[in-house]
Amino acid sequence: MQKREHFGSRLAVILAMAGSAIGLGNIWRFPYQVGQNGGAAFILLYLAACLVLALPIFFAEAAIGRRSGSNVFGAMKKLAPGSPWKWVGLLTVITPLLLLSYYSVVGGWAVDYLYKACTFSFSGNTSGIFSNFISSTWEPLIAHTVFLALTAGVILMGVKKGIEKFTKITMPMLFILILVIMLFGLTLPGSWKGVEYLVKPDFSKITAEVAASAMGQAFFSLSLGIGTILTYASYMKKDENIVSSGTYTAFSDLLFAFLAGFVIMPAVFAAGIAPSEGAGLVFETLPYIFSQMHTGSVVAILFFVTILVAALTSSISLLEVGVAYMVEEKGWSRRRSTLVLAAGVWVVGALCSLSFGPLEGVKILGLGIFDFFDQFCSNWLMPLGGLLFTIFVGWYMRKADVRDELTSGGRFNRRIFGAVYFLIRYVAPVGIVMVFITNLIF
Ligand code: TRP
Repeated sequence: MQKREHFGSRLAVILAMAGSAIGLGNIWRFPYQVGQNGGAAFILLYLAACLVLALPIFFAEAAIGRRSGSNVFGAMKKLAPGSPWKWVGLLTVITPLLLLSYYSVVGGWAVDYLYKACTFSFSGNTSGIFSNFISSTWEPLIAHTVFLALTAGVILMGVKKGIEKFTKITMPMLFILILVIMLFGLTLPGSWKGVEYLVKPDFSKITAEVAASAMGQAFFSLSLGIGTILTYASYMKKDENIVSSGTYTAFSDLLFAFLAGFVIMPAVFAAGIAPSEGAGLVFETLPYIFSQMHTGSVVAILFFVTILVAALTSSISLLEVGVAYMVEEKGWSRRRSTLVLAAGVWVVGALCSLSFGPLEGVKILGLGIFDFFDQFCSNWLMPLGGLLFTIFVGWYMRKADVRDELTSGGRFNRRIFGAVYFLIRYVAPVGIVMVFITNLIF
């Protein structure tokens, strides 16, 4: 047995967790979810979902992870020996792979756009760029293949350290670039309508489906419900503060999403694109912004490089979960696990990719293949995982153990422990079940 490593500092923990959380979920998924679910009212629901549902689950996952000091399977074996809880571990192998399959498709879009930026394609009339690209057969498939190959390549070479160093440079760069693009976007004529759309809620837009989507987005963006935070927290030292690390992570994740919203929505209105466009929204809007900027292509290249890196740091962690499982539980070699799993992911992802083109007519429960996988993972599987984690911490674990974790042995949060425990034990599970039920009925 290797000795388990620990993150060196509090900052390292927060950076690692924020690195997993911040990705395509903020830059691509958040703006299009806002547009599809009616704007500012969705944002309010999303904020509520983050605070009341997602944060408690973050704490619960982190408490299990640090208490057990191991991955989801090991954690359940250690903390609940001989019980059916070990099956929760299965969820955490399957969901990341499903997630990766369509995540890789969007990662591929970023690859393709980087290529387009390098060949100065974002000039003149940009309106047909995305629809031509997405409805074709081969170009998105090749891009998906490149993105997945990059992901698998990193896993095979194990250059995790290099990637981590790289993200320390690219994440701040992404932040600065987003600010620059946002300030520019706000000068475009017509853009203020987009700002209004983001800040003036229309409460008549709220439905059970919108609430479920807000919850799903909170889970997706914070990497919850599939054991990622659990695993990262298992590398935390005992004297670190779970509650404050979680709060910082959530805060930076929210900040990034809001910035992306303020980049995309104003430009959506300036360009005359429908906000409810769906998964392609960001990729339709960005070319327009870049075509209007004088130094557009330079900014575009930098921007897509950083998006790509942000996406890769998330996608490698998704593939690694499955690979680690195959290696540790099934005795496969690392190489074989990576190649076999990536091949499976490629096939599902290819179907998702084709669902915008040749397979457009194929519907599962009324949704295209891509949208089905996206909604199934975010609105159902991740909340289900989150629900199980809160039940585990709130009802199965001993309260004294939970207190010991969340207060780090009585060092922090003694006053707020009661409230946090209440959120984990009652509010989050009841909230998730309520959203599930209303969504099933309607
Ligand atoms: N949170 C990531 C993003 O916003 C995506 C993601 C969801 C994820 N679940 C995850 C990443 C689990 C790593 C592990 O892009």
